[in-house]
Amino acid sequence: MARVKTYKEQAFDQLRGLDGISDAQIAEHLTLYAGYVKQVNALNQQLAERLAQGKASGKDPEFAELTRRLGFEYNGMILHEYYFSNLRKAADPSPGRHSGLAQALSDAFGSVEAWQTDFQAMGEMRGIGWVILFQDPATDRLTNHWVTLHQDGVPAGFKPLLVMDVWEHAFMRDYKATEKMKYVDAFFRNIDWSMVERRLREEAAVRPAAA
Ligand SMILES: [Fe+2]
Repeated sequence: MARVKTYKEQAFDQLRGLDGISDAQIAEHLTLYAGYVKQVNALNQQLAERLAQGKASGKDPEFAELTRRLGFEYNGMILHEYYFSNLRKAADPSPGRHSGLAQALSDAFGSVEAWQTDFQAMGEMRGIGWVILFQDPATDRLTNHWVTLHQDGVPAGFKPLLVMDVWEHAFMRDYKATEKMKYVDAFFRNIDWSMVERRLREEAAVRPAAA
């Protein structure tokens, strides 16, 4: 049987002491993230076993269901790694005025403020999912996207620069269901802009590798 890659959850120690997102909220969220890592490993193992046993068949509903779940579980793991690693305590309030990021946001949206208005408005949308600032590696253009659940709406091959979780589990220990925008404001007070800048600069996608 082919060797199955096993992912390990990352620790994200820099997340203690955020402004407006409690340590208890983060601890609960990290437990949920660990569940995605576990599910990715279990799914890969189950599918590899089926393949080795000659049971890989698109006509088999169990095979099909396990396969369909790959997008959900993998993106659940990966997007959380982007999310946690673009937060830090004692963060700067905005990207540096003359940074490459500020320039790229201005080129795409008119100004950093206009980009932020758009990104936060997407955070107010009904439903569970993610708001993500992406860079198209083919054109370098930055765009904001809404991703439903974890897998619907991710532009193929685009590089995530800033990832915001807007599932209710991301904030409901600290805020009521009706207070999502208080969480969105808190998220913005804790953005690690140097990480976002690094993701913009580096060709490869930058996240702590769950390897
Ligand atoms: Fe989450």
